[in-house]
Amino acid sequence: MNISLSDKDFELFRKLIYEQSGIHFSEMNRSILETRLRERLKVSGQPEIQGYYHLIQTNQYEMKVLLDSVTTNLTKFFRNTGQFQAFESHVIPDLVIWKRAARSDIVRIWSAGCSTGEEPYSIAMLIKDKLPPDLHSEIIASDLSLKSLMIAQEGFYPENKIEGVPEQYLSRFFDKKMEGYQIKDEIKKMVRFDYHNLKYDSGLRSVDILFCRNVIIYFDDTAQRAVIGKFWDIMSNHSYLFLGHSESLFGMDTHFEFVKTEWAVLYRKFLPKEGPSR
Ligand SMILES: C[S@@+](CC[C@H](N)C(=O)[O-])C[C@H]1O[C@@H](n2cnc3c(N)ncnc32)[C@H](O)[C@@H]1O
Repeated sequence: MNISLSDKDFELFRKLIYEQSGIHFSEMNRSILETRLRERLKVSGQPEIQGYYHLIQTNQYEMKVLLDSVTTNLTKFFRNTGQFQAFESHVIPDLVIWKRAARSDIVRIWSAGCSTGEEPYSIAMLIKDKLPPDLHSEIIASDLSLKSLMIAQEGFYPENKIEGVPEQYLSRFFDKKMEGYQIKDEIKKMVRFDYHNLKYDSGLRSVDILFCRNVIIYFDDTAQRAVIGKFWDIMSNHSYLFLGHSESLFGMDTHFEFVKTEWAVLYRKFLPKEGPSR
């Protein structure tokens, strides 16, 4: 089936995808959308593009599958090691002091746009290793890609995907299998995976550390601002935000503070008047 979208159909699909997810298809990415639509038409048995457009508007499941098919799910364990260094050497020690002062023993972490799980599992391994035992973590990982979430939940990674995992973590937190590595239950059960579209309220509150890396890069300015605004609202008064290396809040009217550490640049929400004194 050969699809070449007319300008009108391209507009219709890109508008709908944008409204549903924030993902923005520019003219440059038009051929990617055409390829994905070609696949979906074939699988869904719809011969006509207009018929398929009608289908996704009436069938929520197919809409989800289409959104899944237009996402980019590239990820890796301990991606951007500088950020994980900052997480270990700056964020954890700082939050430990803060949490103890606030007499709170829970650190809530959200990996938003977690793809196939490498990011939240990297976080979980580090937390297991570095968070003092008087504190507990709650790690939530979400994505709108059902395919990716299934892989994440399985926690099995072929040999070529475990690159980036430090040797001592590989032997401590994975079981070697014939064709790859299985993440151990002690790490797996630290992470709760959820389907969630960042267009909507996650229902989460008091998030202390938020990873949303290499996700908003696919959004336009308006959608980026909307997501960042929602993050601000649900983060605790003293909390950290990690974005991807090519994403920034520069030029965005936000209250997040820019924190330059030795290892990486982070963002912090800090409302001291509303938190415990230091
Ligand atoms: C390139 S991956 C990044 C994975 C990981 N955060 C990292 O940096 O390695 C981007 C992920 O964002 C997800 N995503 C894109 N738009 C989303 C949305 N509106 N809501 C939730 N997840 C979304 C995609 O499904 C994909 O898995």
